[in-house]
Parts: sequence; C-alpha cells; structure tokens
Amino acid sequence: MAGAGILQDIPKMIKLTEKVIKSTSLPVTVKTRLGWDENTLNIEEVAERLQDIGIKALSIHGRTRKQMYKGEADWTLIGKVKNNPRIHIPIFGNGDIDSPQKALEYKNRYGVDGIMIGRASIGYPWIFRDIKHFFNYGTILEAPQIEERVEVARKHLMKSIEWKGERIGIVEMRRHYTNYFRDLPGIKDFRARLVSEMDPSNLHCLLDEIKEHYQESSQLV
Ligand SMILES: Cc1cc2nc3c(=O)[nH]c(=O)nc-3n(C[C@H](O)[C@H](O)[C@H](O)COP(=O)(O)O)c2cc1C
Repeated sequence: MAGAGILQDIPKMIKLTEKVIKSTSLPVTVKTRLGWDENTLNIEEVAERLQDIGIKALSIHGRTRKQMYKGEADWTLIGKVKNNPRIHIPIFGNGDIDSPQKALEYKNRYGVDGIMIGRASIGYPWIFRDIKHFFNYGTILEAPQIEERVEVARKHLMKSIEWKGERIGIVEMRRHYTNYFRDLPGIKDFRARLVSEMDPSNLHCLLDEIKEHYQESSQLV
C-alpha cells in the first residue's frame, strides 16, 4: 500500500493526508496518479477531497497505477481537475513532457499552473533551463557543450557517492551516462568503460578522457 497503492483505498488516503496536514505547520502538497486502474479514474473527486482537507497544491501524473509507464499520459483528466471551478489550489501536470515545445503546448492546452518533469531530466538536468528559456524568449537554447556535460556528470557522481556510499553510488550513476553524453559520436565505447568501472579515481580519469577527446574532435570539425 505504499506510494500509489493508497489509490486503492481513497478514504484511507484522505485520512492519512489529513493526519499529515494536522501534524505540521508546513504546507503539504500531494502528488498522485489518475486512479488505481481504468475502472477507478477518480482523480476529480480525489482532488476536491484533498483540497477540502487543506492540501496546498496537487501534482497529477496522467496515468493509472496499473498502466505503470505504458501508453501515453492522458492529460485530459488533469485539465478537467484544473478547470473545475471548485478547485482553487495550484494544479501541476505530469507525464511525458520531454521538450520545451511540448511543455508550452501542454501548459497552454490544459491550463495547468505548472509542470513536473521526471524521466526527461534523468541525465539531462538542462531540460528545466531549456523550458524556462523557451517560455521567456520562444527560442531553443544550444545544447550544453562537452565541458559542462562532463562537469555536471562528475558532480552528480560525487554527490551520488556521498549520498549512497561508493558501491551503490557508482552503480546507480550508470543509467545516467547515456543521457549526459547523448548524441556524441562514438560514445558507446566510453560508455561501456564507464559502466564497468568501480574505482572512483579511474572514473574521474575516464571523464577527463571523454572531455579531452570530444574537445579535440570538436576543434577538428
Ligand atoms: C526513477 C524514478 C523514480 C520515481 N520515483 C517516484 C516516487 O518516489 N514517487 C512518485 O510519486 N513518483 C515517482 N516517479 C514517477 C515520476 O514522478 C513521474 O510521475 C513519472 O515518471 C511520469 O513523469 P515523466 O513522464 O516526466 O517521467 C519516479 C519515476 C522515475 C523514473
């Protein structure tokens, strides 16, 4: 019953959230899905009830728990929650936003107060900067250069080790390299080395090697 599991028992979800709200002076927000499955798409009612007990904002992932990540996120119900005249708390939409253009299109189409981004930020934290820039100026920023990509990946690796310990920190970092170094020709061999290395100082050297390699090759172009 952890996480989205609570969507199987809405009265309990409301009671639990109410207890959290009552136990703190901090603002409490909720992030949830459309419902447990296609037969229980109850987010409209859930949103009202959560607002009534005092949550300060609601983020909605446009899928059911049963869907996991299958299919496309359905934002129509998110839009309905946002446009319900009874709803006055900020509503954030979530699901499948992976570009500045899509962020703007969905924000305008569904009128949400904000957008949450998950997978598109994995290994590409620049997505937030790209979207802000597009919203403000209508133009697409240039992708980060190799120096910045390497230095952010390095910082992430160090933070990962600091947070999770050396072994888990290094292993969990592996899934991120593909995105940090996406679109670089010939990155496959470097990637294979990055995901088989367990020694932090060797990883630092390897990151330096990647930076130097692509700095040189960009100078050749
Ligand atoms: C690695 C990973 C971990 C996640 N952990 C959580 C979590 O702890 N709680 C939660 O509500 N959603 C979690 N999610 C779901 C995301 O918050 C988000 O709802 C979902 O990925 C859809 O958004 P996206 O298409 O922008 O990725 C996780 C997603 C990923 C990829």
